[in-house]
Amino acid sequence: MSESKKIQAVKGVRDILPPESALWSRVEQTAREVFAAYNFREIRLPEFEQTELFARSVGLDTDIVGKEMYTFADRDDASISLRPEATASVVRAYIEHGMHTLPGDVKLYYIGPMFRRERPQKGRYRQFYQIGAEVLGRSERPAIDAELIEMLLIFIGRCGLNEHTLHINSIGCLKCRSAYIEVLRTALAAVKDQLGPDSQRRIQSNPLRVLDSKLPGEQAVIEALPRLSAHLCQDCAAHFTQLRMELKMRRIAYQENWRLVRGLDYYTRTTFEVTAPGLGSQDAICGGGRYDGLVELLGGPPTKGIGFALGTDRFLLALKEAGAGAVPAGIDVFVAWFSFVTYPMAARLARRLRDAGLSVEMVHEDLKFKKSLGLADRMGARFVVLIGETEMAAGTCTVKRLADGTQQTVAETEIVDYLKSAGS
Ligand code: HAM
Repeated sequence: MSESKKIQAVKGVRDILPPESALWSRVEQTAREVFAAYNFREIRLPEFEQTELFARSVGLDTDIVGKEMYTFADRDDASISLRPEATASVVRAYIEHGMHTLPGDVKLYYIGPMFRRERPQKGRYRQFYQIGAEVLGRSERPAIDAELIEMLLIFIGRCGLNEHTLHINSIGCLKCRSAYIEVLRTALAAVKDQLGPDSQRRIQSNPLRVLDSKLPGEQAVIEALPRLSAHLCQDCAAHFTQLRMELKMRRIAYQENWRLVRGLDYYTRTTFEVTAPGLGSQDAICGGGRYDGLVELLGGPPTKGIGFALGTDRFLLALKEAGAGAVPAGIDVFVAWFSFVTYPMAARLARRLRDAGLSVEMVHEDLKFKKSLGLADRMGARFVVLIGETEMAAGTCTVKRLADGTQQTVAETEIVDYLKSAGS
C-alpha cells in the first residue's frame, strides 16, 4: 500500500488547541460581560458577502480590498468575498433590517474570524479573529467615542493587560480632509526623491497612507510634512477637543498621533488604536474610529457610526507577554476504579461530580492502581477518587490529593461537598 500524504493546514491559518483555547474562551466571555454592561448586544454575521460591499465601504484603493481579499465567483457568477473585516457587514445588516427605527443608539458587538491574504508573520495571519463593537445612531457626540473607548479599555484591563497605549487622532470630515490631501500631495511632491517607491506611488493614489510608512529612511521627511490637525474645519476641531476633554474626564490616558490615518476608507474624524509592548512590528491590538457617512454610502438613511475591532490573536500574544495568559490546566478529579464490580459505582459517582460542576476524567478500562495514579498525575488531576471493593462495601471512597499525596476516607454521600470545600 502506498504511504498516504499528510495534509496540513493552509499557509497563514492555524489551529487553536487546548489549553490555549481556554484562554480564548475566557477573553471572549469577558468581552461579552463587559459589553453587556454597556448595553451592547451580539450580532452574528455571515462570513462571506458580496464583494461590492467591501469595495464600496473599505475602499477599492486600500490594500485590504485591492490585494488581500479572498474573492471567488459563485456558481451563478456573483462575486463573493470572505469578509476581511465586519464593520461593513454590520452596516449592511443595520440597513437591511431597518435598525434605524430602533430606540436610542444601536450598539452591537461581534466575535469571529476575518480573512486577509497578508504575508504571514508573528501576529499576522490569513484567518484571524476579531472582537468588535459598533455604535450606530443619530448622534455624533464625542461622548459616544469616549464611552466606547472606555468600554474597550475596561475590557482589555479586565483580561489582565495593564500595559498598553491608546493612540488617538482626528482625520477630519470629507471636506477638510480633501483640502488637506491637496496640501499634503503638494508637500510630498516636493520631497518625492527622498521617498521609497511605495510612498512615491501613493502621492497620487492615496497620499494619507504615506503617513503610515514605517520605513526608517522616510521618517524624518514625514515628520516635517504639514499636519491635518492644522487643517481641520471648525466643527471637526471642536469635536476632537471635546473628545480629549471627555477622555480626561474619564481619566483615560492617551497619546495623540497625528499620523494615525488607518488603512480603511470609511473613517471620518476620530481614529484610534491600542498598541501593546513586546509584539514587534504587529503591535496594534485594536483599531477603530468614526464612520459617519458609511450608512448613507451603502444606501441607508443619514446615520453616524463609530466602532473598533480588537485582534484577538494579537491580544492573546500581548496577554502572554504580560504574563496574564495563564489558563487553569488539568482537571479536578480522576476517578479510579478496580475490577468491574466497582465500575457501576464509579460511573455513577463520576456523573454526580460532573453534575456538581467539577471536571472529571474516568477511564473505561480496568487499570492497575499504579497506572491509574500515573495517568491522573500526567493529566494534572488535583484529586484521585479511588473506589475498590472495600470502599464499595463500606459506601466510602478514598480521596488522594496529588499535590502532597495525603489520603482520606470520605463517605460517598459527602464526597461532592468534601471535594468542593477542599478547593478542587
Ligand atoms: P483593522 O485595523 O483593519 O480595523 O483591524 C483591527 C485589528 O485586527 C488590528 O488592530 C489587528 O489587531 C487585527 N488584525 C488585522 N489584520 C490582522 C491579521 N492579518 N492577523 C492578525 N490580526 C489582524 C478593522 O478591521 C475595522 N473594521 C475596525 C473598526 C470597527 N473600525 C470601526 N469599527
